[in-house]
Amino acid sequence: MLNGTDGTRLAVVTGGSGGIGKACGRELAGRGYDVVLTARREPALRAAADEVGARYFLADASSPSSFGAAIAALDRVDLMVHAAGTLDGTYARKQTFQQWRNTMSANLDSCFVVVQAALPLMSAGSRFVFVSSSAAHEPMPGRTAYSASKAGMNAFARALALEVDRDGINVNIVTPGPVETDMLQDVPFEMHAVTAEDVAQTVAWLDTVQASVDLPEIRLNAITRGPAAREPVVPLEARRRARREETERL
Ligand SMILES: NC(=O)c1ccc[n+]([C@@H]2O[C@H](COP(=O)([O-])OP(=O)(O)OC[C@H]3O[C@@H](n4cnc5c(N)ncnc54)[C@H](OP(=O)(O)O)[C@@H]3O)[C@@H](O)[C@H]2O)c1
Repeated sequence: MLNGTDGTRLAVVTGGSGGIGKACGRELAGRGYDVVLTARREPALRAAADEVGARYFLADASSPSSFGAAIAALDRVDLMVHAAGTLDGTYARKQTFQQWRNTMSANLDSCFVVVQAALPLMSAGSRFVFVSSSAAHEPMPGRTAYSASKAGMNAFARALALEVDRDGINVNIVTPGPVETDMLQDVPFEMHAVTAEDVAQTVAWLDTVQASVDLPEIRLNAITRGPAAREPVVPLEARRRARREETERL
């Protein structure tokens, strides 16, 4: 494990103001990491950083100039958690090219941008963790760009793993099904979901795995029945639709 001179590992978390990114920041800070959160919008990012005890920098993870300039302020990166992303887009027949581009850019271009900016600061013992989605394996109708971007992320991460193993750098993918965060609130039906803390604990645990072990991917899904199952999440959009249907019935 690579550490700073005082033994502290430096973790950068993209999407640091989001549900999963902030939970990762909190978990890692709690484990003694020096944490840097990144996102584009300052108020939410500053609040998240204050809340978890992290530093932050503003950067668009899909822009080489924006992200490159921001990360240049660091002297090393020991753990890069890429959790920035968007659940935008719709059915192929309804989608504009711009919607497609926005989703691909935020979710897939960003993989390349983040890696290319971070690699010069990473050495043996460092690690990338990509936060993907079950849509990478089970594409979602109505989420064509999102599904393609996450399948692309997984392929990119595996190719990267085969490129940087010779440098002693590890690459892991965490692939959750639904996670209870703001991103889920636009989904029009209720579902079982894991929590952002479940994902964060997995990310932090991955960084304890021996560098000699190749662990390509961990998939996380909520248990849907039996005593361990949590209550299903009812997203805001599902509540809105139920209210509309009720009004139409009256
Ligand atoms: N929630 C789920 O059900 C779920 C399930 C599976 C996988 N995931 C994946 O987990 C990741 C995090 O999701 P979440 O639920 O935490 O989402 P979230 O709460 O909506 O947060 C998204 C984060 O990404 C940042 N972001 C978006 N585009 C960005 C860009 N171009 N550059 C930099 N930052 C950007 C946002 O901040 P700014 O907008 O300020 O930049 C925010 O911090 C995503 O990749 C998502 O696909 C989520």
